[in-house]
Amino acid sequence: MTLHVIGFSRTSDELTCDGVSLVAIAKAEGTPVYVYSAAMLRQRYRDLDAAFGDYPHAIHYAFKANSTRALVALLKSLGSCVDAVSMWEVEVARAAGFEPRQIVFDGVGKSDVELEHAVDLDLKAINVESAGELARVEAIAARKSAVARIAIRVNPDIDARSHPHISTGLKINKFGIPADDVHALLPTLNGRTSIRLVALHVHVGSQITSMEPIRDAALKLAQLAQHAKDAGVALEYVDAGGGLGISYDGGPVPTFKDYASAFVEALRPTRLPIVVEPGRSIIGPAGVLLARVLDLKPRTATSEFAVIDAGMTELMRPALYNAFHLIEPVCARIGGVRQYELVGPVCESGDVVGRDRMLTPLEVGDLVVIRDAGAYGSVMASNYNRRPLPAEVLVDNGSWRVIRRRQTLADLLALES
Ligand code: LLP
Repeated sequence: MTLHVIGFSRTSDELTCDGVSLVAIAKAEGTPVYVYSAAMLRQRYRDLDAAFGDYPHAIHYAFKANSTRALVALLKSLGSCVDAVSMWEVEVARAAGFEPRQIVFDGVGKSDVELEHAVDLDLKAINVESAGELARVEAIAARKSAVARIAIRVNPDIDARSHPHISTGLKINKFGIPADDVHALLPTLNGRTSIRLVALHVHVGSQITSMEPIRDAALKLAQLAQHAKDAGVALEYVDAGGGLGISYDGGPVPTFKDYASAFVEALRPTRLPIVVEPGRSIIGPAGVLLARVLDLKPRTATSEFAVIDAGMTELMRPALYNAFHLIEPVCARIGGVRQYELVGPVCESGDVVGRDRMLTPLEVGDLVVIRDAGAYGSVMASNYNRRPLPAEVLVDNGSWRVIRRRQTLADLLALES
């Protein structure tokens, strides 16, 4: 056991997590199983936090990326707050001990029940996404004789240059209120008795790998914050959203320092504290999906299928976004690399986890890891083909424990009569 090793690295012939054997975890818990490194999660959180220096800021970790209780409890212990996107995420956060004033509530389609609950809890902010939603919140708060704390999500018409499914900042996307409309709206918000505008919010997309959209979003936010001030609205903070990408394929991505500096530089003149809502950049690299090779069969003259026991049901990203995740054998066999099409067990041809991968020879029963699966992995898993949700394991301080057990057949049938 080598405790100084953080994250997933090869010690002798075996890929380990914080120095702990993945082979041992797979043997005890079976596969597929998500494995997370507590040390790496801590390190990433602290690095992002430190990147803001002494500028006032708060990290509202985006629960949508992964909200397994032990993981959010760990982030809470480091000082994280919460970005929730449904009433259920709000409640998972509260169950983990977060206070309502540590939670911002996002989402393009919040039901009246969700909004009522949010107003009752007096969350840090309800991030409203349209004039219609603003009116609904105001009516709900008025009925309750409450004052709802709101933030306006601005649609800045900025291209995040990410996958179209996860780019959110263009006018044609469903998110937020167009910047021009926000300009017009701001002066009307003073003196309203049932709503209080506490922040402006932008989030232009996820998996952003260049600085330009980040800088553009920061400038837009600064400009609008100034406009709010001119209109006599006293904001408490600005919310810069999430979105910083991670390097799935080894290519360059902005650092936490680049990211934080862009916001601090642009927003310093406003003197407003900065809230960020990172998900992927905190937890993505801290998790892997561990799977086993079930079968090998010929594919083309030069490649083979490797059927593994994890597929689109456990990790939907490759099938849904054609996303690349590095895949590697846990124990590399001797021999020249071969070409594999790594496919899952689900009855769909689109259930491909890794295309045309050059790997050292695989044999049935071998373990493979799918890297950078900590974010948008387990949370997007499904029961399609009646496959149970996989177990999740947290490695911490030289040992490991199950933080979510594998679903059982009884769990799968529990809701049905
Ligand atoms: N804030 C808002 C308002 C968001 O919509 C999102 C992500 C975040 C924060 C966190 O973004 P992050 O820092 O994780 O990029 N399932 C997709 C990603 C969807 C992201 C949705 N919104 C994927 O697997 O790539």
